[in-house]
Amino acid sequence: MSVFKLNLFNNKVYKLMDVFLGKVVSMNWGMKNRLNRIINPKTGHCVMLAVDHGFFQGPTTGLRNLGKTINPLIPYADALMITRGGIRNWIPPEMDKPIILRMSGGTSILKELSNEIITTTVEDAIRINASAITCSIFVGAEFEQQSIANLSHLVNEGQKYGIPVLAVTAVGKEMARDARFLGLASRIAVEIGAQIVKTYFCDDFEKVVEACGNTPVVIAGGKKIDEKDALQMAKNARDKGAVGVDMGRNIFQSDNPIGMIKAVRAIIHDGMAVEDAFKIYKE
Ligand code: R5P
Repeated sequence: MSVFKLNLFNNKVYKLMDVFLGKVVSMNWGMKNRLNRIINPKTGHCVMLAVDHGFFQGPTTGLRNLGKTINPLIPYADALMITRGGIRNWIPPEMDKPIILRMSGGTSILKELSNEIITTTVEDAIRINASAITCSIFVGAEFEQQSIANLSHLVNEGQKYGIPVLAVTAVGKEMARDARFLGLASRIAVEIGAQIVKTYFCDDFEKVVEACGNTPVVIAGGKKIDEKDALQMAKNARDKGAVGVDMGRNIFQSDNPIGMIKAVRAIIHDGMAVEDAFKIYKE
């Protein structure tokens, strides 16, 4: 309506506004739609399944044959975090869950991990039909600036096409996984423009969530731990404001991966008590 009024008033303004509004409106819709595909708008929560480990760890335990381990879990995940090689080698295109595409890499566990580059173009992310794109930032590490520039590049590209960016706050060996460090890294990700922040659970986690303002926060699972402890961590993170998890090893390295992802879902989406969720894992 306002565009029509502008048209009557000044044809030149109308044309400029048409282009401007057309782009902004459609971009916002696409961005919101993609985010709603990942974070369930009914519960406000999400269970992402992270299986991108091979981009720097090679054939990680549980992911040697990625398809064999992961395809049975897909029905229980809200989204899959994966590389383009992971998708094209192991995931059938009939799969209808949103993809969070890992766009950075260029390092291995044998070298300095913070020395990442962007390995994947946004055009390839669009070809893959990614619902979000992702890279890591290494705050406090040797290549801190380069990794933040990577995030900035993805945010700028994502804004052009309405694709949200999930920023992973990587933690170097010398960094403490505490609220001060994770709050610092997460807030930097928010200020650069990430639409979702992935970080680690820690004491005083609510301070990390608070540092992220309105930006949703998910936690990584980290190294494999006892199932009940992993469920407790998911519950604690939810209680302290995380919208969910982006969990990998604590699901696919479990002795009952399907039971485990179902249990995590019950905690994240339904707020189930850990004892009850543990029974689901055991079933
Ligand atoms: C980290 O950079 C990658 O995104 C990992 O694949 C992801 O954080 C792993 O998830 P988890 O720690 O739960 O195995």
